[in-house]
Amino acid sequence: RTVYLNGEYLPETEAKVSIFDRSFLMADGVYEVTSVLGGKLIDFDGHLARLERSLNELDMEKPEAFDDLLDIHRKLVELNGIDEGMIYLQVSRGSAGDRDFVFPDPEETKPTLVLFTQNKPGLADNPVAKKGIKVISIEDIRWGRRDIKTVQLLYPSMGKMAAKKAGCDDAWLVEDGQVTEGTSNNAYIVKDGTIITRNLSQDILHGITRAAVLRFAREAQMQVEERPFTIAEAQAADEAFYTSASSFVMPVVEIDGTKVGDGKPGPVAKRLREIYLEESV
Ligand code: PDD
Repeated sequence: RTVYLNGEYLPETEAKVSIFDRSFLMADGVYEVTSVLGGKLIDFDGHLARLERSLNELDMEKPEAFDDLLDIHRKLVELNGIDEGMIYLQVSRGSAGDRDFVFPDPEETKPTLVLFTQNKPGLADNPVAKKGIKVISIEDIRWGRRDIKTVQLLYPSMGKMAAKKAGCDDAWLVEDGQVTEGTSNNAYIVKDGTIITRNLSQDILHGITRAAVLRFAREAQMQVEERPFTIAEAQAADEAFYTSASSFVMPVVEIDGTKVGDGKPGPVAKRLREIYLEESV
């Protein structure tokens, strides 16, 4: 596989980053995941805009190649022959050659820009989406700026591991009794035809797929309510689902051992998945 590192296209074994890089030592980096379907980038503009916002919020310099990111994404898709899959992009603050809590002077250091592709045949026609997935709930103990897409993913990883151990697929995070989001996705329920998902704030990532799905839902005259909900409300809902760039719209059929609705993917989630895949490609 060919990867991109700071202006160069390299075989993955030759792409090397300093051990002093701040994303390695301090999780001082931000990232984006963009999916590829039929060789085309999905929601690229949204991911680029959110990357710019994450960089701004952390006073991080834009990488020199920022304006070429579309070309770089396209070139990697081509070089690696990706039909269905993902592109991972990470920008770190770089390093001034030592470990220091203080940010290095931007004059003396350059951000590190890394991109690589992941081949995922069957991403759109995912059999998991036909069955739906099971989630557990766990306390959300992440930091308070979840709207910034940083590479601090240890707690979400622990959440996925806890889910796996419980025979489930993912964890929904709960703070003050209300669901914030999934470990790597935005959470929704459907009750009496109304789609309910937490309102945007610093408590959750502003999902690019969320924005598109809510726009399509409203265009299709579906009711949308942006507000927090509890696990009990989700268990008593007609449907539940989540959204993310890597899974689009994914039905959730069980929460903490309780079936949602009849325990099968619901019509609203199915329809939104179809609309999203039709309209975004
Ligand atoms: N995760 N919430 C969290 C905490 C996320 O990590 C993600 C994305 C989302 C959904 O955002 P979007 O629709 O823009 O992908 C919500 C990516 C896919 C990941 O970490 O792999």
